[in-house]
Amino acid sequence: MTHFLDIHKTAPEDLRAMLVQALAMKAARAGRPKGMADDDTPLAGRMVALIFEKPSTRTRISFDVGVRQMGGATMVLSGSDMQLGHGETIADTARVLSRYVDLIMLRTFEEATLLEMAEHASVPVINGLTNRTHPCQIMADVMTYEEHRGPIAGKKVVWAGDGNNVCASFLHAAGRFGFDFTFTGPEVLDPEAEFVDLARKEGARVEIERDAARAVDGADLVVTDTWVSMHDAQSTRERRHNLLRPYRIDDALMARAKPDALFMHCLPAHREEEATGSVMDGPHSVIFDEAENRLHAQKAILRYCLGV
Ligand code: CP
Ligand code: NVA
Repeated sequence: MTHFLDIHKTAPEDLRAMLVQALAMKAARAGRPKGMADDDTPLAGRMVALIFEKPSTRTRISFDVGVRQMGGATMVLSGSDMQLGHGETIADTARVLSRYVDLIMLRTFEEATLLEMAEHASVPVINGLTNRTHPCQIMADVMTYEEHRGPIAGKKVVWAGDGNNVCASFLHAAGRFGFDFTFTGPEVLDPEAEFVDLARKEGARVEIERDAARAVDGADLVVTDTWVSMHDAQSTRERRHNLLRPYRIDDALMARAKPDALFMHCLPAHREEEATGSVMDGPHSVIFDEAENRLHAQKAILRYCLGV
């Protein structure tokens, strides 16, 4: 069974092959209407369940469109509408779904839910975000960086703000794709030590720098994300904002990066909070290319999981 649960659980050569395939598929359908199928439809006859226990725009729509472009069918399900949200076990849900569908994409809260689904499903499971990681996003981000600037290996990637789920998958990717990673944010919002240690063990240079301006010095890529994630209690909002305000990406901070540095944000963004509108819409920003590449990268992830 080939699941896609996290970047560090997937072999580097498989990750690279997925990005190569994603780029090729993107090029092959350039200019084609979005609803028109690809020439090659490797998912013909396949049914994919897209399950969301949290809101989503990009993940939901890009997976749905991607499966259809490859000739497959989808059903988009909300966790709360399923018995899963009303006491049926994850294991039983996994076993039942495996009788109906060929692949399950799950966005959920606890990582344990995803892992239990994968353990008991007899079809591949893809991680569409948990409280801890967001691997599909970072596959699209690496693809986007390389489309614009060539190989990401050896580049300086700076993450500013909350050491959250998206940051965690960036750390996984640092190990697998061989880039340097600097985290800048308040100590209480540091990424989990386990993720930092793993990236270092895999050979990535990981630095923690509390001063945002020093951190961004010479960066090739500057990344941030919302200050309050979907799993964070709203009661922590004010405290988080106070802690994170020094890490807002504005034009002055971006000017510390290399002149050809890119700016990324997985979206949804809160303009003027974690990043100013001038940066988000400015010359360094590739945020909408990232969003588009979710579609292409995930099509390659789906093919990898289904072996087609
Ligand atoms: N970046 C991302 O995963 O967006 P959605 O929450 O809209 O899916
Ligand atoms: N860190 C954000 C990412 C959303 C795509 C969250 O988990 O809400």
